[in-house]
Amino acid sequence: MIKINENYLQLQTSYLFSTIAKRVQAFQQLHPEKEIIRLGIGDVTQPLPTACLNAFHQAVDELGTASSFRGYGPEQGYGFLREAIAIHDFQARGADISPDEIFVSDGAKCDTGNIQELFSNDTRLAIPDPVYPVYVDTNVMAGRAGALKGDRYDRITYLPCTIENGYLPEIPTTSADLIYLCSPNNPTGATLNREQLTAWVEYARKNRSLILFDAAYEAFIRDPDLPHSIYEIPGANEVAIEFRSFSKTAGFTGVRCAYTVVPKACFGYTETGEKVSLHALWNRRHTTKFNGVSYPVQRAAEAVFSPQGQSEIRALTDGYLENAAHIRSVIQQIGFSCVGGDNSPYIWVNTGRDAWDFFDLLLERAGVVCTPGAGFGSCGQGHIRISAFNSHENVVLAMQRIAKALG
Ligand code: MLT
Repeated sequence: MIKINENYLQLQTSYLFSTIAKRVQAFQQLHPEKEIIRLGIGDVTQPLPTACLNAFHQAVDELGTASSFRGYGPEQGYGFLREAIAIHDFQARGADISPDEIFVSDGAKCDTGNIQELFSNDTRLAIPDPVYPVYVDTNVMAGRAGALKGDRYDRITYLPCTIENGYLPEIPTTSADLIYLCSPNNPTGATLNREQLTAWVEYARKNRSLILFDAAYEAFIRDPDLPHSIYEIPGANEVAIEFRSFSKTAGFTGVRCAYTVVPKACFGYTETGEKVSLHALWNRRHTTKFNGVSYPVQRAAEAVFSPQGQSEIRALTDGYLENAAHIRSVIQQIGFSCVGGDNSPYIWVNTGRDAWDFFDLLLERAGVVCTPGAGFGSCGQGHIRISAFNSHENVVLAMQRIAKALG
């Protein structure tokens, strides 16, 4: 008899974005005449930057000739990409990260989901609420989150992000071993400033904890005072792993390329208190379970760092931020308060009503898909997330429809 991993039975319903997709599909079957505008899952709609496209094409052609053909690449990523990342994303900001601390992968979702494998099952978790569901669900699958009591797991310390604290997680009074942070935040769009991030780094150093810092949305930061990387904070390289993605930065949600930084100064501990390099453990995992991102995709990602690539991704992210500014202004005009949308592509709206009811209301009355805040955790109840990832025309139309439906 094959026995299952019963931790899976502790998961709540299906994965949030699958649930939403099913609900939208059911609605569409009932109302095939209605044109739906999707501002739900953060999936990009604009084409790849030309610099990336050209590099992609050229690399595909290289594979068609014996002299430039490439088979398996290094599991950690090609040197050309790891070097470009280290120089542009870290060293240029004064963060001392070297290419061999960077692990190229096929997505920040996979990396933030897989990283928990490195830690013991009695690791004490601190996870914001609301939060990107992958952090919680993957710990549940591993049996680290405890039992579901109501809508919360009893071995997670939840860090409420509410209107009172500006929708950002606050340092817990108890000690935690593994802390998930995301800034600019998904789903709330709020951003940790330098002082707040410094306090988290100090907490982690004091408690010998580790911060898993998800910076998938850093390309949307426009405020020059906000940190883009946790490694801009002194000492963070001893207590933090950072996740980045080309998905939202350069339109790679379908292309798939991301990376994780595991500094060599980062250590975990054995039961008896001996230090173990997390870089070595992640390298061991990566080489065992992953065969690298395809060569053309890594060349396309490298092109993001060319002068043309940089100006194209700036225009791309500026376009989505214009959408975000428009969403914010309409939401405020119709009388709701919101955060996010200035250094982030997500707008977090305080609806004051049940989040799933509000989701249904927008779908039925306006034909617009959003994400119900309750799907990100119980503190998301009463809120919805609106994504700025769509064409400007669709965003303008969606907001006209929302204003009419709610006005
Ligand atoms: C989201 O909408 O939260 C993101 O698109 C999900 C993801 O990046 O996996």
